Amino acid sequence: MRSRYARLDRFLSQRLGQSRREIQRLLASGRVRIDDAVTRDGQQQVGPFSRVQLDAELLQADQARYLMLNKPAGVVSATRDTRHRTALDLLDEATGDDLHIAGRLDFHSTGLLLLTNDGNWSRQLSTPGNRVSKRYRVTLEKPLSEDYVRAFAEGMWFEHEGITTRPAGLVILSDHVAEVTLTEGRYHQIKRMFGRFRNRVLTLHRFAVGDLLLDPGLETGTSRALTKAEVLAANPLYRPG
Ligand code: URA
Repeated sequence: MRSRYARLDRFLSQRLGQSRREIQRLLASGRVRIDDAVTRDGQQQVGPFSRVQLDAELLQADQARYLMLNKPAGVVSATRDTRHRTALDLLDEATGDDLHIAGRLDFHSTGLLLLTNDGNWSRQLSTPGNRVSKRYRVTLEKPLSEDYVRAFAEGMWFEHEGITTRPAGLVILSDHVAEVTLTEGRYHQIKRMFGRFRNRVLTLHRFAVGDLLLDPGLETGTSRALTKAEVLAANPLYRPG
């Protein structure tokens, strides 16, 4: 996972095995460039995806990558698993190398799963304080009622974590189908919330993260890269480094 920022002088010193004094001289000579601009400032920050050059030599040039996967049921949201297929197994081998999952879905859940190598982006997506919404379509075993709407909006006490869930949106679409909006991701959260009503979740499908919708043309089990606009739609707070 790439998320670290470093001061340029420290980055160069570590990378080139030279002393701070030698690095100061190197910087003063104007031979170092970040993202194609000459820099002489050792205090400048090098982001995880900054392109750093010494003359023609590339010292770092990593690409930030963001993918959406239409997750099928029966796949683990993990990079490795000894028993089941993982989300990473569904990507081309060369594609998945350095990616991690930004916001898991349970084994039987389906829909929008995001993968990235950008640790800052994924952290901001899942920090509850940032209130990035995740929207789900849920099918229940028993009929719904307005009591559910109130209980979801009020929040529920989760004994195990010692927290009250943040207000969640619930819109009843039909007797057994609801749209749920969460701004956090507790363990099995939706199942546990319906569990309070002894109502079993039969299917759970995530169709949106922030303003990013699952591409309706993306077949189950397949993935594609996000556009720049989609990277921001999922995480409006994000400022690329
Ligand atoms: N809540 C759940 O219970 N499962 C999911 O996969 C996502 C939210």
